[in-house]
Amino acid sequence: MAAGIDIMSVSKGLKSENDLETKSRPYFNHSIELKRRCTKEERAKVLASVGLNVFFFPAEMVSGCDMLSDSGTTTMTNEQWASLHMGDVAYGSNRGYFVLMDQVKKTFGDGFSNSLASGKPNAFLFHQGRAAEDALFTALGKLGKDMVIPSNGHFDTTQANIEANGMQALNLFSPELGAENPESHFKGNMDVTRFKKLLEESADRIPVAFLTITNNTAGGSPVSMRNIEETSRLAHDSGIPLLFDACRFAENAWFIKNYENGYAKKEIRDIVKEMFSHVDGFAISFKKDGLANMGGGLFLKEGGIFMKKYNGLPDAIMNHQITTEGHPTYGGISGRDIMTIAVGLDTVLKDEYLDYRIKQVQEFGLSMHGLGLPVLMPAGGNAVYLDVNKFFDGTGIKPEDFGGISLTALLLANYGHRACELGYFAFGSYDKSTGKRTFPEVNFVRFAVPRLRYEKQDLESVAVAVKTLYEEREKIPPVEVVYGEDLPLRHFKARFAFRRQ
Ligand SMILES: Cc1ncc(COP(=O)(O)O)c(C=O)c1O
Repeated sequence: MAAGIDIMSVSKGLKSENDLETKSRPYFNHSIELKRRCTKEERAKVLASVGLNVFFFPAEMVSGCDMLSDSGTTTMTNEQWASLHMGDVAYGSNRGYFVLMDQVKKTFGDGFSNSLASGKPNAFLFHQGRAAEDALFTALGKLGKDMVIPSNGHFDTTQANIEANGMQALNLFSPELGAENPESHFKGNMDVTRFKKLLEESADRIPVAFLTITNNTAGGSPVSMRNIEETSRLAHDSGIPLLFDACRFAENAWFIKNYENGYAKKEIRDIVKEMFSHVDGFAISFKKDGLANMGGGLFLKEGGIFMKKYNGLPDAIMNHQITTEGHPTYGGISGRDIMTIAVGLDTVLKDEYLDYRIKQVQEFGLSMHGLGLPVLMPAGGNAVYLDVNKFFDGTGIKPEDFGGISLTALLLANYGHRACELGYFAFGSYDKSTGKRTFPEVNFVRFAVPRLRYEKQDLESVAVAVKTLYEEREKIPPVEVVYGEDLPLRHFKARFAFRRQ
């Protein structure tokens, strides 16, 4: 054979895949589901029959993209499907429990996984995130009166669980959130100035402080390491434990690596450990960055302020868990699902997965923005948020007309895409006795992007559909609430009808 130039040196002299503008996905389809075909008339009829509440609309009839939530909607990997077979469903101490505890330690660092042998429980499994919140806030609510739990942004179920236990859920959104500054990457931060003031005035009323990473209520925006550190220092100086609502911890770490000074060269795994070194525990729904379809947990750090300050609470939490969920070693999750969480917690930190995931959401945000739609920029990690007030600006739609509800109903009826109102209706309230309505600071429709489920073409079709509605926004009527305006968590239950103007 003639001696030639080896392929390595030829290839070195040519451009590589990283020089290309577009790349293939870091995965391929393992199995697919054909959608049911469905006409606009069929969808409209069914939607009318459920009072325009998109939560009650049959998923099978969502013939476009289902962007109602990124929670529990992940397409699992082949490793996760395989792991289901490796799980056992023993009533006590199933195999998955030990595999998961090992993975918790590997992912979040020392102190969070349970050593049941010590007899001091500090890691609690629940069937989903809100069950963990229920157990935590039921226990905390018994500690006193007039208590307040500050956060950079409580999620709706977190807020509801806090309020159900007689405490106030206080959101200290970053002042950057409303600013038109696409270069501001950490709009999910805690407003530390307001947090400091609150601590000076009423530290004794605060049993714990919370940081939601990423901040789902604030446009899915991330929280910087600096803000985590500062919030932790302030809370700890006042002897208050800081907990994460950690549902999207990996996505948050990606933003720190890519946009915060000093982190570009660090491994995502190390950034996650650094984030968790600042807190005393975390509540989590594994239906997001656990890449699983079910599961949640509460993990309190051994030696952290929470465990030291409230040493009676872990037992109360465990009793709650046993009476409502099951034995601590499965906590309402089947042994099989526990295995999928353990695998998911490892996969979610892989650069190729995370990079693709967030860039897909960012590109979707850019295409909405490029079409002139008023979306929060830069996009967060899990969803694109459309500003309802800006969308309807100049049309005469008032806050009590709930334009976000009209928008989600018509998007589903006309184009088959399902999105979620997270604004004046979801987070507002109505007092029947006084007729007083309250409205939150933010008014969004959220387009959540399920993990590993849709392709670019799908998301483009949503952007174009929303743009078409935007062009016809003058024709979109307001809604009236025909049932449930005064209920807690009303967006899940209420019924609406379009109102003639
Ligand atoms: C930030 C945040 N916290 C808590 C939860 C509650 O988790 P789950 O739906 O598993 O009850 C969610 C769910 O979407 C969430 O986004």
